[in-house]
Amino acid sequence: MSKCKHRYLVSGGAGFIGSHLCEALLETGSEVICLDNLSDFYDPRIKLANLHTLLPRKGFSFIKADIRDTDALQSIFSSNSIDMLVHIAAMAGVRPSIENPRLYYDVNLMGTQKLLEMCRRHGVKKLVFASSSSVYGNNCVPFSEADPVDNPISPYAASKKAAELMCHTWYHLYDISTICLRFFTVYGPRQRPDLAIHKFARDILADKTITLFGDGSSSRDYTYVKDIIAGVSAAVDRLHASETKLYEIYNLGNAEPISLIDMVSALEQVLGKKAKLRHKAMQAGDVERTFADISKAGEFLNYAPSTPFMEGLQNFVDWLVTTKD
Ligand SMILES: NC(=O)c1ccc[n+]([C@@H]2O[C@H](COP(=O)([O-])OP(=O)(O)OC[C@H]3O[C@@H](n4cnc5c(N)ncnc54)[C@H](O)[C@@H]3O)[C@@H](O)[C@H]2O)c1
Repeated sequence: MSKCKHRYLVSGGAGFIGSHLCEALLETGSEVICLDNLSDFYDPRIKLANLHTLLPRKGFSFIKADIRDTDALQSIFSSNSIDMLVHIAAMAGVRPSIENPRLYYDVNLMGTQKLLEMCRRHGVKKLVFASSSSVYGNNCVPFSEADPVDNPISPYAASKKAAELMCHTWYHLYDISTICLRFFTVYGPRQRPDLAIHKFARDILADKTITLFGDGSSSRDYTYVKDIIAGVSAAVDRLHASETKLYEIYNLGNAEPISLIDMVSALEQVLGKKAKLRHKAMQAGDVERTFADISKAGEFLNYAPSTPFMEGLQNFVDWLVTTKD
């Protein structure tokens, strides 16, 4: 990332991807205001641990607030001159969105809309939005940004697509240059505990049986968090460099999908332990496969993920083992 200093507002900066991004932005000598409600979607102590490494760093400040809280947002935006909003905060996860769609729409849509309105009111003209590969539903692979994405199959996916559309509207009406980044299953140190790699690794270590949904042939384009952060950083730089307003969508994936059963074998190898498996039917809302066409991000962001899966997995396990209770 370029070493120019800016002031960033990072929503969701205490979470998995957000905390890595805050670190990368601080490396440029910039100021980072992290806005996060430390939601209890998973144990908030994990987010406090993420913040623990960030809080002593120069240029970093943390505000515990909800992106749906208009008064809190008004206070943050009016007392800080923000150069760019990096909007990472969301209710993430496909399956829980089926249980509680209302919460997902509330946070992912109303929260996004409130942030967009604040950008309009306070003249913030640059925005990065964290979207998701889930918007592609069960499209044919590889998924390209040019593909129609009219068939999301979970409330989470629909909320991400709807938020992308809302970002487009605010870009069109109020000249807020926007880059939406569709992340593909991100893994690495600090990964969310509800995600398969993390859940399986914990259970294998604890000798618990792990449940595979489907016959193991479903696949995901696992993308290492460092590669994702390189892509987000390039998007940030592109927004700073652009002299004209822009609205773009880029896939940030690895372009090397791995089947569920191969992911489990790789985990067994890294952990040095066999998994006990149980199979269940595929779950509603889960897509069969994800696979990113990353040529657009390669061309415009110089995005080139470089972390081999086994190496990324080893880094994740090293982190897990040192942080486990
Ligand atoms: N991890 C992945 O594989 C993946 C894949 C695709 C897209 N994404 C998207 O990337 C972003 C980050 O994902 P993550 O895996 O780091 O998740 P995460 O849950 O670790 O991070 C999200 C953060 O947002 C915060 N947050 C939630 N609701 C909030 C609210 N109402 N107000 C303020 N803060 C709130 C949470 O406390 C959390 O710290 C999300 O938008 C997610 O949808 C993630």
